[in-house]
Amino acid sequence: MDLTKFDGQWPAAIASLLPQVVERDALLIWLQLYPLSVWTLAQSETDRADFERYYQLRGRYRLSEIADTSHSFLPGHRHWPAVKAALPNEPGDNLAALIRTIASGDPGKLAIAAVLVMTLRQAGPAFLTSGYQPPAERPKPGLWMRLTNRGLKVTMQDGNSFPILPGQHITTGAELDKRPYHESDERCYQGMGPIPVDCRSGSCGTCWVGILGGRELTDPVTDFEQKRMQYFGYWENPFHEKEAERPLIRLACQTIVRGSCDIVIPTWNGVLGTARQLRRSET
Ligand code: FES
Repeated sequence: MDLTKFDGQWPAAIASLLPQVVERDALLIWLQLYPLSVWTLAQSETDRADFERYYQLRGRYRLSEIADTSHSFLPGHRHWPAVKAALPNEPGDNLAALIRTIASGDPGKLAIAAVLVMTLRQAGPAFLTSGYQPPAERPKPGLWMRLTNRGLKVTMQDGNSFPILPGQHITTGAELDKRPYHESDERCYQGMGPIPVDCRSGSCGTCWVGILGGRELTDPVTDFEQKRMQYFGYWENPFHEKEAERPLIRLACQTIVRGSCDIVIPTWNGVLGTARQLRRSET
């Protein structure tokens, strides 16, 4: 199925669907975590190791490697097998119409239907027959979390959370969570919490997160954080709400919280700002 003809339609199609999308913020976060531009950039490279070194890419940035799970933070993840089965043989010429068809007119499936089409565009069709079944329910918090869940907390996409104090940066609270996250994410350091960090000063771009809930309880983005996000390339995305005082994508080491919030920790990080891309194209 040729989906390249839709490449220029994505911003307008999503804008037209958003008023009906139940999982609005989750969809906008996902679209910013897995931009078509990064996939396109990766496709143009012949030496993967050199490519990843140049753009300081770490983690899983290729949807083909996580096609069935990249969107597990969307409640619509449970509809994944259903939207796979609803994919028509012919995509037609209108992206928004295709997404509506796959969602079968259900607003609760629009977000996951859009994710399906973008995943198919980037990952190819192999995952359509994977047989993957979403877990029946989220993992339950362990004893450590039940003992520490009395105050404010930051909840991650796996349902686990860590406590935080009002006025703290997200990474400051995360560092006190001593579970072995390094065993499941190679970017995490042992004993340093669930959010990968390399500097805590806005220099590395490792700690970017999506604010899935409670962003009204975060402090507004500063000029410094905004400049750094632009440098890393995380905001050069058609789904970034440029005027937002509290955007959906933040640097966790620069984001102060005043109340409990829900976050999505991306599966990858890198430095893909325009200046770096242009410099590479000139060499
Ligand atoms: S840890 Fe380096 S930018 Fe946040």
